[in-house]
Amino acid sequence: MKGKVALVTGGGSGIGQAAAVLFARKGAKVAVADRNAEGGAETIAMVEAEGGEGRFFAVDVTDENQVAGLVASTVSEFGSLDCAFNNAGITHPSRLFHELTLDQWDEMIAVNLTSVFLCMKHEIIQMLAQDDGGAIVNTSSGAAIIPAPGQPHYTAAKRGVLGLTTYAADELNGKGIRVNAVCPGMIDTPMVASWRESSPEMAEAVVQMMPGGRLGLPEEVAAAAVWLCSDEARWVSGDTMVVDGGMLNR
Ligand SMILES: NC(=O)c1ccc[n+]([C@@H]2O[C@H](COP(=O)([O-])OP(=O)(O)OC[C@H]3O[C@@H](n4cnc5c(N)ncnc54)[C@H](O)[C@@H]3O)[C@@H](O)[C@H]2O)c1
Repeated sequence: MKGKVALVTGGGSGIGQAAAVLFARKGAKVAVADRNAEGGAETIAMVEAEGGEGRFFAVDVTDENQVAGLVASTVSEFGSLDCAFNNAGITHPSRLFHELTLDQWDEMIAVNLTSVFLCMKHEIIQMLAQDDGGAIVNTSSGAAIIPAPGQPHYTAAKRGVLGLTTYAADELNGKGIRVNAVCPGMIDTPMVASWRESSPEMAEAVVQMMPGGRLGLPEEVAAAAVWLCSDEARWVSGDTMVVDGGMLNR
């Protein structure tokens, strides 16, 4: 990663924060994008504590102008865009399919799917224009493979992310740009903490079903994403890496 520039969306918390820190530890300069400025500042402090160089950009990834500006600012700050981890996302409280409103659907699709399209579009424009291409990793979910109960729109959005990933990997094949996805299982981040607080008994039952009786760690997903961005993964494209401790395989 030495000399490379990595962009991480949703870098102000959880999996994105762990990935920003790992990119920095491995020598990359890191652009951290999030709509949460407090979390973003915390991540930059963690990057700098690793001896790394990072810059926070306050961005709503559902807005195309802001996304285009994010890519342009990253390149003007650091000189290129070599690795992109499109990871920002949300969940909603569980609800049945027929109770889902159009507003809830629209918000979920905007944040968890349209944002990935927008980020990929502007990252690809930049990566095609530079000599060394680049690597993109999108955060999908185990819910894209086995539907998450109470999350019809989340399941659909995350499956859409896999569609964007495999489509783009094929179109960019031979053009120096690789595109892959990670599918985390249940990972111990603020996103899951709020769900655990709202339904503690159900959450505990789910945790007990997990291999080893524990949640995954953000660092365990970050390790997969950073590896997929690295030159060690140069022959890997269009892949979906499930990072769930073996849960889906049970
Ligand atoms: N935690 C899990 O168990 C789990 C499992 C599968 C997939 N995922 C996915 O992993 C990704 C990261 O989740 P996490 O668990 O680290 O959650 P998190 O809530 O800790 O972090 C998500 C970050 O995304 C940011 N974000 C949300 N909407 C945004 C927007 N419109 N613009 C900019 N930033 C925005 C938030 O501010 C937050 O900092 C998400 O895409 C999530 O769907 C998480």
